[in-house]
Amino acid sequence: MKRLKIFWFLTLVLTVLNGFAQYAKVIPQPLEVEFNEGIFKIASNVKIVRGENTFNAEYLQNLLKEDYDLNLKISRKGNKGIILEVDNSLTEQVGEEGYTLNVQGNKIELKAPNSKGIFYAIQTLRQLINSEGEVAKVRITDKPRFKWRAFMLDEARYFKGKNQVKKLLDQMAILKMNVFHWHLTDDQGWRIEIKKYPKLTQVGGFRSNSQIGGWDSEKRSNVSHGGFYTQDEIKEIISYASERNITIIPEIEMPGHASAAIAAYPWLGTLGKLKEVPVVFGKLPDSYNVADPRVYKFLEDILLEVMHLFPAKTIHIGGDEVKFEAWKENKFVQKFMEDNELNSPTDLQIFFTNKISNLLENYNHRMMGWNEILGGNVHEWQKKEDIVSKEQLAPNTIVHFWKGNLDMVTDAVKRGYDIVNSYHVYTYLDYNYSYIPIEKSYEFDPIPIGLDKKYHEKVLGLGCQMWGEWIPTVKDMDRMIFPRIAAYAEVGWTSKKRKNFKVFIDNLNPILQKWKEEGINCADKYREVDFKK
Ligand code: ACM
Repeated sequence: MKRLKIFWFLTLVLTVLNGFAQYAKVIPQPLEVEFNEGIFKIASNVKIVRGENTFNAEYLQNLLKEDYDLNLKISRKGNKGIILEVDNSLTEQVGEEGYTLNVQGNKIELKAPNSKGIFYAIQTLRQLINSEGEVAKVRITDKPRFKWRAFMLDEARYFKGKNQVKKLLDQMAILKMNVFHWHLTDDQGWRIEIKKYPKLTQVGGFRSNSQIGGWDSEKRSNVSHGGFYTQDEIKEIISYASERNITIIPEIEMPGHASAAIAAYPWLGTLGKLKEVPVVFGKLPDSYNVADPRVYKFLEDILLEVMHLFPAKTIHIGGDEVKFEAWKENKFVQKFMEDNELNSPTDLQIFFTNKISNLLENYNHRMMGWNEILGGNVHEWQKKEDIVSKEQLAPNTIVHFWKGNLDMVTDAVKRGYDIVNSYHVYTYLDYNYSYIPIEKSYEFDPIPIGLDKKYHEKVLGLGCQMWGEWIPTVKDMDRMIFPRIAAYAEVGWTSKKRKNFKVFIDNLNPILQKWKEEGINCADKYREVDFKK
């Protein structure tokens, strides 16, 4: 009884305290916010004091010019104006990416242990400025909940090009998202130049037609589609992303979702039937012939070029939705399985995946893949005997959870794997707003209910995924992404106790307005009420 009273008393205290909680008009919502009386006006005589932060100072200078038509000068030193200061002593308080922002009478101080934090303080500051160039006096201390806050773009299905990618990187930066997961290869297109295998883009980068109207539709667009990034363009985008504290994780799909590569070099395939880059979407039958040593050499050559290009120390190898029939019907693959004592196609996939993991590890890289690489019961169409496995996935892998029973996450972290949670029911941006309204995006918690606290740090964070099969145009793409991306940003950054949907929706207005002014096609209907009959 006494316990119950204490419980109710504490609940009451927390409710009252929460009532006093202060929120900034910022997405994602910062950790601690305390407003004071008064404002700071950013007039054109205000200086940006850069210290060692040359890039960040110039970045802020440009933002203020573009967004508010303010022309501020940058000075090296000073104790007035907008002061950017790296302060190592803050590490313990705000970690790797956090910062403090203090708006006072004659200065705005942005402090962080490193330039990442300063960059994020700038993203907060830009949202606090009103149309008169004024900022309310406020003290903010902020840091992210998760270290992996990803947005994925599938350009294999429809190529969007570097200007669109840069536009998305800009919006990710405002929202403090830090991983751009770039789905560059799939059945319907290979989008990254590989010097050693030029046909991958010459042949694999183009298709003659495209299925339209949904998964089983017989309709075709009757227009060809194609495009790819040269390595120079990739470098340009990497550098653009890195200035915005965004790591690009390239995804090179294997052993399935590889038809574009197989169309370019037919000896890579298992079925020997593919003549051209597929024009239909969905799960296609062929996969790399993982019994052929030439396939391993090919993948090694590709991954070497990929590792050389991208500074990230993690490479995503896909691994999802392999249709096992091709391997089961191929006598060389069957012999290979016998020789290596592999009992099921799942064992074979794990055996193959671990070879790739070894290769990446030899070059000091870490492998990441969709959760099928663990084996297990992921799809209703899988045959029971095909998924029985004895092989163990390499321990250092990051498992990218998207489908299956949520217990698989718990099971994987208990087995020692790190997880990025992209559970499709909550995070797939190709799903309609009627299925994932913004409330549902916002509600997503990457840490499954009931997961023991000791495993929480194994959940690195989340991803939201813009799959491309049915979004041929930028206009369609933007409508699916905006504004839901803002909700995913807040899921990734904002501490659980600071999440508040009502505040979030209120704060969405200015950023929605800004997107619309920039010509981004935001969805008109994105809330649950919009779909209630
Ligand atoms: C996936 O959606 N096939 C990862």
